[in-house]
Amino acid sequence: MAPAKHSIFLCFPLLFIISLSFRPVFAQKPVFACDVSNNPGLKNFTFCDPSLDVKSRVADLVGRLTLQEKIGWLVDAAQGVSRLGIPNYEWWSEALHGVSFVGPGTKFSSLVPGATSFPQVILTGATFNESLFEAIGKVVSTEARAMYNVGLAGLTFWSPNVNIFRDPRWGRGQETPGEDPLLSSKYGAAYVRGLQQRDDGDKDRLKVAACCKHYTAYDLDDWKGIRRYNFNALVTQQDLDDTFQPPFKSCVIDGNVASVMCSYNQVNGKPTCGDPDLLSGVIRGQWKLNGYIVSDCDSLNEIFNAQHYTKTPEETAALTVNAGLDLNCGSFLSKNAQAAVDRGLLNETAIDRAVSNNFATMMRLGFFDGDPSKTLYGNLGPKDVCTPANQEFAREAAQQGIVLLKNTKGSLPLSPTAIKSLAVIGPNANATHTMLGNYEGNPCKYTTPLQGLAVSVATVYQPGCADVPCGTAQVDAAKKVAAAADAVVLVMGSDDKIEKESLDRVDITLPGQQQLLVSAVANVSKGPVILVIMSGGGMDVQFAKDDPKITSILWVGFPGEAGGAAIADVIFGLYNPSGRLPMTWYPQSYADKVNMSDMHMRPDPSRDYPGRTYRFYKGPTVFPFGEGLSYSEFNHQLVKAPKFVSMPLEEGHVCQSSKCLSIDAVDETCKNLAFDVHLKVKNVGKMKGSHTIFLFSSPPQVHNAPQKQLLGFQKMHLEPQGEGMVRFNVDICKDLSLVDENGNKKVALGKHLLHVGNLKHSLNVRI
Ligand SMILES: *[C@@H]1O[C@H](CO)[C@@H](O)[C@H](O)[C@H]1NC(C)=O
Ligand SMILES: *[C@@H]1O[C@H](CO)[C@@H](O)[C@H](O)[C@H]1NC(C)=O
Ligand SMILES: *[C@@H]1O[C@H](CO)[C@@H](O)[C@H](O)[C@H]1NC(C)=O
Ligand SMILES: *[C@@H]1O[C@H](CO)[C@@H](O)[C@H](O)[C@H]1NC(C)=O
Ligand SMILES: *[C@@H]1O[C@H](CO)[C@@H](O)[C@H](O)[C@H]1NC(C)=O
Ligand SMILES: *[C@@H]1O[C@H](CO)[C@@H](O)[C@H](O)[C@H]1NC(C)=O
Repeated sequence: MAPAKHSIFLCFPLLFIISLSFRPVFAQKPVFACDVSNNPGLKNFTFCDPSLDVKSRVADLVGRLTLQEKIGWLVDAAQGVSRLGIPNYEWWSEALHGVSFVGPGTKFSSLVPGATSFPQVILTGATFNESLFEAIGKVVSTEARAMYNVGLAGLTFWSPNVNIFRDPRWGRGQETPGEDPLLSSKYGAAYVRGLQQRDDGDKDRLKVAACCKHYTAYDLDDWKGIRRYNFNALVTQQDLDDTFQPPFKSCVIDGNVASVMCSYNQVNGKPTCGDPDLLSGVIRGQWKLNGYIVSDCDSLNEIFNAQHYTKTPEETAALTVNAGLDLNCGSFLSKNAQAAVDRGLLNETAIDRAVSNNFATMMRLGFFDGDPSKTLYGNLGPKDVCTPANQEFAREAAQQGIVLLKNTKGSLPLSPTAIKSLAVIGPNANATHTMLGNYEGNPCKYTTPLQGLAVSVATVYQPGCADVPCGTAQVDAAKKVAAAADAVVLVMGSDDKIEKESLDRVDITLPGQQQLLVSAVANVSKGPVILVIMSGGGMDVQFAKDDPKITSILWVGFPGEAGGAAIADVIFGLYNPSGRLPMTWYPQSYADKVNMSDMHMRPDPSRDYPGRTYRFYKGPTVFPFGEGLSYSEFNHQLVKAPKFVSMPLEEGHVCQSSKCLSIDAVDETCKNLAFDVHLKVKNVGKMKGSHTIFLFSSPPQVHNAPQKQLLGFQKMHLEPQGEGMVRFNVDICKDLSLVDENGNKKVALGKHLLHVGNLKHSLNVRI
């Protein structure tokens, strides 16, 4: 079946062409309620009074609405109530790495033809720079608010995507910050703060509303006919609690996100948007979401039509709203909620709860405060979008993410004076739109890799393949320019024909004949050969790692509108690379052997299942999680770390009477249980640069614990020979704990091996 979203996706290429060639001017006024200048009577309504608290205003508003009017606010294309001065509102806007044209709530026009397009999130994840995550969110929300003011965008943005990138084939892995729950948690909370936080520090109000998605254990789009719409993710309680849920929990608790989106798939036989334990129980109950729960687009229809989980549309409507769903992306509830009420399956109290959550969010956004032009963000407009500073920041973000994976001595950085001619080869060498990745908007402008490189040296260009899938490589033409050049840069990898939403990969090698082209070109080259891989997911490029003629490898993700400039900055040493892989790069044999639909994180030797991610997978990798070289070298020295810590035991704990492998991490035990690790870091190279310090631990192997787990990361900038101190504060119950097979939080007793780079330190946890 073709849900609404599909038709939108099919229109993309067309939309894109239209928006570049013909830019209609849309409304130039923001959409808002309580416009007292037009209708002085609205002043009398409590819900229009910004000086009152949100709760009273919402109660007043809901009390004035008929059931039919309320139902109009259960769907993304919300129906205005003109008698109360409430206009239509479109909830669906997106801002994953810049204001996006995905979703009907946002449009570009001649007034705002483009917005700053930051790197696709996977490359931002590779920066391991928490302040950058937040700073990007802040720029994006400023541009979003500026577009709202001229009627081109909404106030509710369904970003970020914090699903765990657990399988290299996932077409949407590019949208996420990677495979590690800690990184995803920190990314999610920081990006949400960047989007939502107001400059006046008013915590009750929102600059724009973010949304963490897709809750939960989603991570598969379309692989060998298994589709997200009816995929039943079989997930153990342990994997759910220590892998899939942490980023969502952090979004809600640490980021105060205003919304969570439930996913298309089922988890253990129940559709997530109809599971009261996951919605009312966890998000609303345990985590105390202050905001609304929205369904993925048309997912209610999928529950009924694709999953056949419910017998009637009315039953579906009742199931989801009763489970805790507040807003339906799509029109399912506007069509079926009334009938569900009429049949006694759904009551008005539940609908009141749902619309109250939706209205409360709109009140926090100022939507019911009347004309926004005199308010904090009222002055923003087209002049605040694509500013030179924002565009420069997109370049800086790409610089910070690019990962250097191989560098033979004497290869990179290239000297722009020594290189008289540079051959630039490959189907992504002159990439534009490909640099943006999924959930893009129109960029301010593009700098392609070729344009970026040509600023410093004379270039000759050969695409080498007709397109990225590279059915037949144009080897001879490429060899000819390579043989004549002082150095070669090959820009290869994937694009949206290979990996995107609704398209998972089967092969994780370079597409088509790209590998053949790379090897042939390298073979005839006389100088350095730099392989640049532009992709969302990892690639099996073992051949390039092993080929001595390929002297350097860079991974550049989908680097955003300024990607070509950032690639050139790294290649010519204007920026010292500091990115680290946020996901494991597996060999093709992994993809051949492992079912993508198998959600288990932990290995199972009895069925030869190798497990997933650096936390559990022990097999061969092409490049491991955290890999990334610099033009400098950095040394670590341990200054301070305890050799043991003692855990107080709660009265009556089972460990008092028997020998224990772990103890319960309960509140009483956990109070003030923390220690510091101090490290000295020195740049012993000749170039200034940034360096990421990872603190990992390998816990005692009880309860199927991960073999290795990231406890913290910090990034610091050091001049040549510069030194700095890093302090990690490790909270034993929060950071060092694990989740047992039943989802209980435990601290393992015995030896925890802490590691930073090559340093290892043994910490004994005892009672
Ligand atoms: C608003 O309320 C005031 C006092 O209650 C009343 O006099 C006035 O007529 C009302 N205005 C409108 C337009 O309803
Ligand atoms: C309405 O439905 C909810 C969810 O099924 C239930 O908890 C509540 O008691 C019902 N309220 C009334 C007034 O029937
Ligand atoms: C590279 O792409 C840019 C932007 O699309 C285009 O203007 C330029 O002609 C291309 N360069 C070559 C050599 O094809
Ligand atoms: C490399 O070049 C040599 C001859 O110069 C040739 O024999 C060999 O097949 C080439 N290898 C590749 C991978 O093209
Ligand atoms: C992979 O999944 C398919 C379909 O779900 C199943 O039939 C097959 O046994 C699985 N293979 C392995 C190796 O688990
Ligand atoms: C992290 O990103 C910020 C930009 O937001 C930048 O100023 C800072 O230098 C970066 N940190 C490091 C260590 O590179």
